[in-house]
Amino acid sequence: MVEQITLNTIEAIMNYRVFDFTHFPTLATERLMLREMTPDDVNALLKHFGNPEVVKFIAMQPIKTIEQANEWLKWMGGFFAAKDGLRWGITQQDGNFVGSAGLHRWNREAHYAQIGCDIAYPYWGQGYGQEAMRQIIEFGWEQMKLNRIEADIVKGNQRSAHVLEKLGFKKEGVLRQRILKGGKYYDVHIYGLLLCDYQDNC
Ligand SMILES: CC(C)(COP(=O)(O)OP(=O)(O)OC[C@H]1O[C@@H](n2cnc3c(N)ncnc32)[C@H](O)[C@@H]1OP(=O)(O)O)[C@@H](O)C(=O)NCCC(=O)NCCS
Repeated sequence: MVEQITLNTIEAIMNYRVFDFTHFPTLATERLMLREMTPDDVNALLKHFGNPEVVKFIAMQPIKTIEQANEWLKWMGGFFAAKDGLRWGITQQDGNFVGSAGLHRWNREAHYAQIGCDIAYPYWGQGYGQEAMRQIIEFGWEQMKLNRIEADIVKGNQRSAHVLEKLGFKKEGVLRQRILKGGKYYDVHIYGLLLCDYQDNC
């Protein structure tokens, strides 16, 4: 009896083990690898965030220098270092860089985090954004024990809105004039996905 309780307790603890940042997790999907970003990604980042289409709805201007790309790399690594999120580099199975995505601003008290994703322009429309985000969402439920994942996108970013809605996110509200870009304010749309939305049992 005591042994059984002990085994059950250990099993419960194992099942409830929350991701603890002891290692950077590599994830695989049917077509993609999601892995830690490294200094080798800097040239790909420069090309990626140097593209005006990619940054059109992000509060930044296209980057132009290796130094700026390095700043991005540092920003992306910063979540893991601060233990409040993860930003993966996304590659095809052969290692070719196709973007980045992550879960940020992990709130451990209320079990939520924010998702973000950018796919390199030449690869848009091939389902990579959805494929990568689906895998990250699963990671959020299973490893981080999240109850809610949120996303904020600039008004007019129809492509992102469509992808989020396909993943089950619901539009929850508008933060008016939340972003300042190029001297102009833009509204931000807030989207949310609950674990029970995902499991279809809210
Ligand atoms: C948003 C983004 C990640 C989507 O990645 P992607 O790999 O192109 O997305 P997918 O191919 O998985 O899906 C694109 C979907 O949008 C649809 N779509 C394409 N253009 C669209 C538009 N203008 N309006 C609405 N839907 C559009 C496609 O038909 C496809 O839907 P489908 O699967 O029903 O056919 C990518 O466009 C991107 O990196 N944008 C720039 C960065 C950004 O704005 N990120 C959002 C902030 S977090």
